[in-house]
Amino acid sequence: MNESEFRALEQSCKTCRACGLCKTRHNVVFGIGNPAAEVLFIGEGPGENEDLQGEPFVGRGGKLLDTMLEAVGLSRKHNIYIANMVKCRPPQNRDPFPEEQDACAHWLADQIAYIHPKIIVCLGRVAAFRMISPDFKVTKQHGQFFEKNGILYMGMFHPAAILRNPNQKPEAFADFLKLRDKIEEICDKTTLVFD
Ligand code: URA
Ligand code: SF4
Repeated sequence: MNESEFRALEQSCKTCRACGLCKTRHNVVFGIGNPAAEVLFIGEGPGENEDLQGEPFVGRGGKLLDTMLEAVGLSRKHNIYIANMVKCRPPQNRDPFPEEQDACAHWLADQIAYIHPKIIVCLGRVAAFRMISPDFKVTKQHGQFFEKNGILYMGMFHPAAILRNPNQKPEAFADFLKLRDKIEEICDKTTLVFD
C-alpha cells in the first residue's frame, strides 16, 4: 500500500456500514497521527467526544493520554499513530460486541500493514485481548513486552480506567517510561520531541 492508497483506505472506511454501529455514529473515527511512526497505540472504540469530533482520544481520557505521552517525548503530532479496535462509537460506550470487532478488524489490519509499527501499545482490556492474548490481565501484565510476528506488544491501563482510579497513575506512567526506553533501544527513525 502506498500513501495515496492509505488515504483512500481512510476515505473508504468513513463510508463503512458493515456492522450495526454505523446506525448510531456521527463520525467514523479512523485514526490520527503520523502514519510513518514506529509506535502505534490502539484503544477500544470512540466515546462521545470522539464520535462528535471524528478523532480518537479527545475527551478527558485523551487529555490524560496526551499529557503522559508528551512527558516521554511522544505525541500524535509527531511520532505516534493512534487508532481503535472499532471505528464507530458503541452506544452508551458499551464494549464492542465480538461480531462488531470482527466486522471492523480488516480496517485495523490494513492500518497495521501500512504503518508497519515496531511497537504496538494496547490501551485497555479490549485491545489487549484481541491483539495480545484472550488471557491478558491488564492489572498483572501491563508494562510487559510480548513479541508476535516481529512486533513488540505492550498492554497499558486504559486512560479512562486511570481517571477512575487515580492511584494507578504512578504505575501507569512507569509503563510510558518503559516504552520510551524500548523506543530508544529499537526505534531508529523515532525522534522524541519535547516542546
Ligand atoms: N476510548 C477509547 O478506547 N478510544 C477512544 O478513541 C476514546 C476513548
Ligand atoms: Fe464499519 Fe467498523 Fe464502523 Fe462497523 S464499526 S460500521 S465495521 S467502520
